Amino acid sequence: MIPQETVEQILNTALIEEVVGDYVELKKSGSALRGLSPFTNEKTPSFYVLPAKSIFKCFSSGKGGSLVTFLMEQEKVSYPEALRMLARRYNIEIREEAPTPEELAAATAKESLGNVVSWAQKWFTSQLRTTDQGQAIGRSYFVERGFRDDVLDKFLIGYSPESWDALATAAQEAGYSADQLVEAGLCKQREDGSLWDFFKGRVMFPIRDVTGRVIGFGGRTLSSDKKVAKYFNSPESVLYNKSKVLYGMHLAKPAIVREARCFLVEGYTDVMAMHQAGVENVVASSGTALTEGQIRLIRRFTPHVTVIFDGDAAGIRASERGIDMLLAEGMAVKVVLLPDGDDPDTYAKKVGSDALRQAIHEGARDFLQFKIELLQATSGDDPLQRAEMIRSVVTSIAAIPDGIQRSVYLQTSASQLGLPEDVLATEVAKALHAREKAAARKSQDGRVGMIPAMPSLEAPMPWEGGSPPPLGEDQEPGSAAHLRTPRSLVEDNLIRALLEYGTDPIEVEVMEGETQTAVTVPFAELVIHRLEEEHLSMSVDVNQVLVNRFSQELDEDRVLTSDMLAREQDAAMQQKVASALVQRYQLSPNWSQRHKIYPTVERDQLAALLEDSLRRLHCFDFRSEVDEISRRLAEPGLDLDQERALLAHKLQLDRKIQTIMVHFGTVVFPA
Ligand code: CTP
Ligand code: MN
Repeated sequence: MIPQETVEQILNTALIEEVVGDYVELKKSGSALRGLSPFTNEKTPSFYVLPAKSIFKCFSSGKGGSLVTFLMEQEKVSYPEALRMLARRYNIEIREEAPTPEELAAATAKESLGNVVSWAQKWFTSQLRTTDQGQAIGRSYFVERGFRDDVLDKFLIGYSPESWDALATAAQEAGYSADQLVEAGLCKQREDGSLWDFFKGRVMFPIRDVTGRVIGFGGRTLSSDKKVAKYFNSPESVLYNKSKVLYGMHLAKPAIVREARCFLVEGYTDVMAMHQAGVENVVASSGTALTEGQIRLIRRFTPHVTVIFDGDAAGIRASERGIDMLLAEGMAVKVVLLPDGDDPDTYAKKVGSDALRQAIHEGARDFLQFKIELLQATSGDDPLQRAEMIRSVVTSIAAIPDGIQRSVYLQTSASQLGLPEDVLATEVAKALHAREKAAARKSQDGRVGMIPAMPSLEAPMPWEGGSPPPLGEDQEPGSAAHLRTPRSLVEDNLIRALLEYGTDPIEVEVMEGETQTAVTVPFAELVIHRLEEEHLSMSVDVNQVLVNRFSQELDEDRVLTSDMLAREQDAAMQQKVASALVQRYQLSPNWSQRHKIYPTVERDQLAALLEDSLRRLHCFDFRSEVDEISRRLAEPGLDLDQERALLAHKLQLDRKIQTIMVHFGTVVFPA
């Protein structure tokens, strides 16, 4: 259990823009911040953060809520674990009462794995920093390779002692179970159940996720024996999804945004060497082929990538697919070719930091140009090789999603290759066609990346005709979305005004004895008072819950604010608050006019908006009553008195409905 005070402290300290900023670059957009959704693969930003309200709203996935909700969604963690993540990020100590057995059982596999991995990182790092063996073997290995201590510290480099069970023993003493150690890939189990340290005698590179949390390790052998695998790596787990992680991303983020570019290298030591040379906007794919998930991770921060090759043609060929994927994801790709098969680490050692920096900045070339030159040089006049090369250029051009960019590349490539442009264009068109067919097949397997329509403030009444507004938000199963009725739209709009303008002062006339006086009350008070006066309730649960909450707070002379609600655990409520508050940031004046939206919520129109909503709510209720009466009238066996009473009631309701419609300026002929 996290004590309530600590929860308060965490929520008061954490800034949503910082927390979300760990995952995606946010740019100012009015009073909101905007970026590419971390939940979907969108290319046009529709993910909003409202720092003042402490909420986010993602229009491409429909998700929204507080920063805690954000972490729960993004990291797939529980509420308490999201709070713990925040506490760690902001160095807030949690004096947690010992977890109960129930809580322990409820801790997710991810949390328990995260704990043991994080513990192990601290242990490995302290082995390198503080033990004789760690210094003599681990640290001196890096010193020999020319790495400075501050770089080792920055990357939390560690050492796993030359012992079969040093980690296993220490970890079990610290309270971690054999199962946890095995699951985390830190230990292996012998037949007799005893444990041995998997990374024994290796230097340890902690692998961190985009927020800096340690999720796994790469362990490098110190032996030069070719039969020993150079690296051991942690296994994939709920914590460590290799295809979505880039080594160094956590440290690179600020520099990537600042420089509007990301360097892509191969190995752990290359990332470290670049940092040592003063280049921080660099990540490594860790030796594996680049994945879509990794590219998307980069794209949240920049569309510009420079791939650094270690100089031999074979290496470049091997990376071609990765580069075509970068192009296909709409990234602008440059390449740098380091001479003589050097990687950034070996090159920096040879020529120094300054020369490395110069090489990667001045040597960067557009990828396609580079590819053509390189292939021309290697294929010479051999017709088969030339055909092969042209095909490869065609594939790369076809991968570019932007039509204009594609045709620019077509032109320049054709002239460089000495081919008529239309010949090349035909080949590219064929390749594009093949891609489209493949994509169509893929989307038939389900999962089409459709961006849902813009959410709407529109609340058309049944008699206003037209179709209901698109279901843009609240689309998760179990939410109110699929139960949406015209009445719920009116409710939503009223609740939105309540959340947005609840504290706004509004003047109302009251009768005090015989005299009428004007008093000023918060808008929320008027809303709650009028709802009670009119005996109106909300048909959507979460709306009624909110009304009740407002009402309770008002009894204590307080007005509920979205900041207070941002602390709620209730996901439906969070969703509501976020949707309600972010909507208006999406509405351009043109759009609003074109769609004749429900009266713009201007502060001076609040009272009108309220009365209007109340009338509409009544109208829906009267209509359902009328329907109910009609049903009863159709039932057999009614006696004359009953029938007469029902008809009288129906007539009364019809009149009320009529009055309301006249108010809205809509003439409806009685059915
Ligand atoms: N790699 C791996 N397993 C291996 C070899 C390589 O996981 N057996 C991954 C590591 O992430 C490594 C990257 O591929 O960082 C690049 O490999 P390589 O260039 O061989 O390693 P370096 O990091 O350059 O290591 P060093 O400079 O220490 O030789
Ligand atoms: Mn290397």
